[in-house]
Amino acid sequence: MSAPLLSVTGAVKRFGGVQALRGVDFDLKAGEIHALLGENGAGKSTLMNLLSGVYAADEGTIEIDGKPVRFSNPREAQAAGIATIFQELDLVPTLDVASNLFLGRELMRPGGFLDAPAMRREARRRLEAIELAIDPARLVADLSIGQRQVVAIVKALSYASRMLIMDEPTAALTVGEVERLFEVMRKLATSGVGIVYISHRLEEVPEIADRVTVMRDGRVAGITEPHAPQAELVRLLVGRPLDELYPKRARCAGKALLSLRDASFRLARDSAGWQAPTGLSLDVHEGEIVGLAGIMGAGRSELLSALYGTGLSGHWEGDVAIGGRPVKLNSIRAARAAGIAFVTDDRRGSGLMLRMAVGLNLVMSVIRRISPAGLMSPRRQADAVRQSFGQFDIRPKNPDIAVGALSGGNQQKVVLAKEILGNPRLLLLDEPTRGVDVGAKGEIYTRLRQLAAQGLGVLVASSEMPELIGLCDRIVVLRQGRNVAEFIGSVDEHTVLAAANGREA
Ligand SMILES: Nc1ncnc2c1ncn2[C@@H]1O[C@H](COP(=O)(O)OP(=O)(O)OP(=O)(O)O)[C@@H](O)[C@H]1O
Ligand SMILES: [Mg+2]
Repeated sequence: MSAPLLSVTGAVKRFGGVQALRGVDFDLKAGEIHALLGENGAGKSTLMNLLSGVYAADEGTIEIDGKPVRFSNPREAQAAGIATIFQELDLVPTLDVASNLFLGRELMRPGGFLDAPAMRREARRRLEAIELAIDPARLVADLSIGQRQVVAIVKALSYASRMLIMDEPTAALTVGEVERLFEVMRKLATSGVGIVYISHRLEEVPEIADRVTVMRDGRVAGITEPHAPQAELVRLLVGRPLDELYPKRARCAGKALLSLRDASFRLARDSAGWQAPTGLSLDVHEGEIVGLAGIMGAGRSELLSALYGTGLSGHWEGDVAIGGRPVKLNSIRAARAAGIAFVTDDRRGSGLMLRMAVGLNLVMSVIRRISPAGLMSPRRQADAVRQSFGQFDIRPKNPDIAVGALSGGNQQKVVLAKEILGNPRLLLLDEPTRGVDVGAKGEIYTRLRQLAAQGLGVLVASSEMPELIGLCDRIVVLRQGRNVAEFIGSVDEHTVLAAANGREA
């Protein structure tokens, strides 16, 4: 039998006192799509970082075609035909899409000049090849998270001659976009490329994977076939069966908290691709969890950021009221004064101070609320931090380490915990469980329900349809910045999707 394309044997990796990998064996065959699953902090990204040349292993060997390799940097891994889509995307926000796609491999004209038109043409061709039209001339900084993910995917695809490692590539993609990505992956696999696919969306596994490896606590917990029952996957993942993922809906929505009537957000300067809210009418009541559905570019994130004053500059027209009183939501300060908190879909770009300790990150929002001068007794701070760790199961249980050293999902838990500690009346959430494992998701949903029962209103955008349907009391569908449909209580995925795409169900 021929050697597998890739094999890892006995991989060990420590970060100070934390042992991220405790002896992992893993292999990948040519033409195979191999799903890698595991709880937040299980060691998935660390293993991938060894294969991408980001870190060197403390122990263990990596072989390609049966020959030992050692990558001392990402370029060496790339040269060996390994392309990686990192969990925290490695795009340069200040450059446009085309420049990002060709970074380090720029197309040149004779005489050593950059051939910008050729790069834009080629970039457009590659983007269109996966049927996701993004203007190659746009700055990455102006793209939504979903669009950035597409750019990172297209970039990696062009490097992936032998292996493609995808660390949660679908975390901000909607159903239709995921379908297209899967088609591209299948084609690539058919041409012999081996693909490692990391995801927390278990429902994707039977659809795309040929084989599944589950990691737990720095080890391989099991290898199974992709059509194993989901309950079996969950048991391997979390080490125990899980209860119902979604808590019961409440039946007791209170007074109107946020009311928009024919509300539009007028941009100070026109910006193509930023879908401003347009003639939008929507309510969120106290105690209610309202979901926002829509395809990429429907304006879900734009609505949330315009409400919080962090979108592009502009102003609201039409009626915008909080608790029955008209408000001018034109700055973060105004939004906070109205009792609004916001968890953005970009945990790195906003919201977290990566070099600072987890504990400090957590108490920042409380300090801002109770004491503008930044005073809060150490005991109250410690209480707040303990409360967050308990409610959101942040791991490792150590408030003194830097947030940047946490796994992706654990960083996300910190962002959520931090905003909730600030005790808002209205919580705006954009992709709240992006990168969070199935066990921790359930805890987050339960916590949101408890807070809603105490009167909190929640407006949540998610590209994960099961999450919207399972969690929300009501789902509002946006298209081109407008509310075009609304569903109360349980509804099927197909119906919501059809409305989002502007079709009959
Ligand atoms: N640069 C680092 N410094 C210190 N600790 C780290 C670093 N990178 C990862 N770790 C730790 O190693 C462990 C494994 O993290 P890893 O990022 O591999 O998890 P993961 O399986 O990718 O989780 P997630 O699903 O949340 O992304 C975690 O305990 C994490 O805190
Ligand atoms: Mg990870």
